[in-house]
Amino acid sequence: MATSLGLGVLVSGTGTNLQAIIDAIERGYLPARICVVISNRSDTYGIKRAKRCGLPTKVVLPTEFKSRAQFDNALLTLLTQHGVDLVVLAGFMRLLSKDFVHAFPDRILNVHPSLLPSFPGLGAQKQALESGVRISGATVHLIDEEMDHGPIVSQCAVPVYSDDDEDTLTRRILKQEHRIYPWCIKMFAEGRVQINNGQVVILNEPRVPDAVIQPSEYK
Ligand code: GRF
Repeated sequence: MATSLGLGVLVSGTGTNLQAIIDAIERGYLPARICVVISNRSDTYGIKRAKRCGLPTKVVLPTEFKSRAQFDNALLTLLTQHGVDLVVLAGFMRLLSKDFVHAFPDRILNVHPSLLPSFPGLGAQKQALESGVRISGATVHLIDEEMDHGPIVSQCAVPVYSDDDEDTLTRRILKQEHRIYPWCIKMFAEGRVQINNGQVVILNEPRVPDAVIQPSEYK
């Protein structure tokens, strides 16, 4: 019987975070296995990546269901059938119902391209640029019933430069998503995550030296 943490990865797009997770498992950094990769869109590059790696894949199209509840139920059935312990949203562009969230309590992770609670929702990078912040970043969190909300597992800050556009900022943030997402899943796989009063506690949390986060070179 498999004992490593079973992941169900939900994608809607290019799946670079999925790839980072696959790579982390392959190089022995992340003690987990991907049980199934599910997409709510046909023809996603994420599904192609999964197939290329020989992972089980499913496409579940919302248009084939009468209601959100039925669509979510179909997802839940697949995740359960495949023995999923932890649901990993990796660019999954769809809100999940209360019932779905309750079916995997504190077991659904999401990655978002901003330092939540700033800039939830679509276009997080555009929101950051328009607000004029000088620091943005990536957040991995457990989901609750609100959009882009729930206990934060980890965050990583990146600078925002005056000549950034959505594309440059997106790429800078995405690079960090690929670092912190596998790490967060590893914390779950190693049983090091506890939830206390709605907040995440990481057991034996590694420390970095106190640092001021600022653009690397002021001249
Ligand atoms: C990422 O920026 C993630 O934060 C957001 O959607 C994007 C997905 O990218 N939720 P990918 O499909 O993993 O390449």
